[in-house]
Amino acid sequence: MRTLAISPIEIESLAATYENASPQEILREALHRVENITLACSFGIEDMVLLDMLSQLSPNPNVFYLDTDVLFPETYALCNEAIERYGLTRLRQIRPALTLEEQAEQYGESLWQSNPNQCCDLRKVQPLTRVLQEYDGWVTGIRRQQSPTRANAQVFEVDHKFGLVKVNPLATWSEKDVWRYVHEHQVPYNPLHDRGYPSIGCLHCTRPVKPGEDSRAGRWAGFDKTECGLHQ
Ligand code: ADX
Repeated sequence: MRTLAISPIEIESLAATYENASPQEILREALHRVENITLACSFGIEDMVLLDMLSQLSPNPNVFYLDTDVLFPETYALCNEAIERYGLTRLRQIRPALTLEEQAEQYGESLWQSNPNQCCDLRKVQPLTRVLQEYDGWVTGIRRQQSPTRANAQVFEVDHKFGLVKVNPLATWSEKDVWRYVHEHQVPYNPLHDRGYPSIGCLHCTRPVKPGEDSRAGRWAGFDKTECGLHQ
């Protein structure tokens, strides 16, 4: 693993100190402690909140999105809206090494159906691995309540998988907290959230959830898969 910008002991202590702090305080400390930090933005509701907070703290924040080539049209439209609203001149579009056509030639048509893990790996995890090598820290929108796999997320943690500092400013927030912020600050958001999609990934692997279903039930529905490999 590379040398961390903050030592593991200090990260643990920051996690304890900032456990009950506001996401803005966590972000401010993260920007202060890790100069070379970036926000991973999927344009989901949590990331729109973080984008709004971050753009108030930093005039031109480092932000990237993993463009799998199969995001929803609504997501691409929101991306353009966010660029305009927040003046994101440093937003980076991170592409997979293979186009969809090349992927189909090498691995067969509709890999997302035959092998969703491999598709996520090619179109999300590998590009993320490459981009994170350029940074000392990354900020994500994961929340503990989103799933059992995220229940132990800390506000500051060591990302052992990718070898850098990981900051989850919304770890302790509920869905209600997120929406309260969105309404209070008139944060633009993906219209799919109002059509039954609490969690939005790629076009072919995300369906709306039914009332009472878990918020991530619409991700890779029908497969024994709950994470794409960015956070586990
Ligand atoms: S996923 O791992 O299942 O796709 P989810 O959609 O819940 O994750 O998003 C969790 C966090 O992962 C987001 O808040 C964001 O920080 C990061 N993330 C997910 N998808 C992307 C993406 N396409 N581009 C950049 N960051 C992403």
